[in-house]
Amino acid sequence: MATAARDAPSFAGSEEADEAVRGTCEDASICKRFAVSIGYWKDPYIQYFVRPAKERKAPEINRGYYARVHGVSQLLTAFLKKTECNCQIINLGAGMDTMFWRLKDENLLPKKYFEVDFPMIVARKIHNIKSKPPLSKPIMESHSGESFLIDAHSLDSSRYAILAADLRDSSELDEKLKKFNMDTQLPTLLIAECVLVYMTPQQSASLLKWAANTFQAAMCINYEQVNMADRFGQIMIENLQRRQCSLAGVEACKSLDSQRDRLLLNGWETARAIDMMEVYRYLPQADVKRIEGLEFLDEKELLEQLMQHYCICWAVKDRCNLGLSNITF
Ligand SMILES: C[S@@+](CC[C@H](N)C(=O)[O-])C[C@H]1O[C@@H](n2cnc3c(N)ncnc32)[C@H](O)[C@@H]1O
Repeated sequence: MATAARDAPSFAGSEEADEAVRGTCEDASICKRFAVSIGYWKDPYIQYFVRPAKERKAPEINRGYYARVHGVSQLLTAFLKKTECNCQIINLGAGMDTMFWRLKDENLLPKKYFEVDFPMIVARKIHNIKSKPPLSKPIMESHSGESFLIDAHSLDSSRYAILAADLRDSSELDEKLKKFNMDTQLPTLLIAECVLVYMTPQQSASLLKWAANTFQAAMCINYEQVNMADRFGQIMIENLQRRQCSLAGVEACKSLDSQRDRLLLNGWETARAIDMMEVYRYLPQADVKRIEGLEFLDEKELLEQLMQHYCICWAVKDRCNLGLSNITF
């Protein structure tokens, strides 16, 4: 007779594989902190979440991070403006992201900002929040009412919540978000920044389908690898594999079309995808001039190659005709 454990679907990867995926959180925030430290963009909060880099990061890496942070934040700001902040944001695999704090400073907070990650990452983030007043104060200032909850693996206040869940299990995710008052009637922005590539195509499809079916009006921003079938892509895969980190979802990262198709096949009405070189070209000339003056970059081709292997995709479902499909660069 089959046992309950054997009948239950298994979402988790092996413990070693998941540990390597969790390690990518540290990598991303160290690179962001380094780029901030030499003036690429301002983020007074990243220093509280991660140690400084042990060595310099290459200029093409720093410019790549600038385009990534700028690109995501441009679409996010357009969504907040379109909905007049009468919306919620769910950052999937948020790691040590600091967007909540930066939006609070800009007076652009949505009704509620949710973050989701593995329990170990969430516990680390909550520990930092609890022990560092520049992080805890903005949460307390934006909180109203009595229902403030904080334990090792979750924090729930009126404007900010962080919770531990495995994104490969959409029903667990749905249940936990609802417990923290996610409102399925509110326009919702879902962000996945370098996250979907760590799950199988079936798992990311099911997450995207859950998101498209749950909200009446929603936008999804996905930043990750693209053009991974070529030689440069293969080298990126091998480098990660050497650190025991496999890109289980690389199949969806073959091309801009495969990225778009995944969104369109899983319930989203419109979807667009552009590589990061294009995002870089859309940057205001004054920004380009400023960041290119920060560090000398010898090999322009290296930057182009790198940028052609990452993309931003954004998809919309707009049953309330809010004009979300007009959001673009
Ligand atoms: C490359 S990091 C990016 C972090 C953040 N989004 C950023 O861009 O700075 C990937 C993050 O996704 C999280 N993640 C990956 N797979 C996940 C899963 N199945 N469930 C929950 N979190 C996951 C990792 O723990 C990690 O924090």
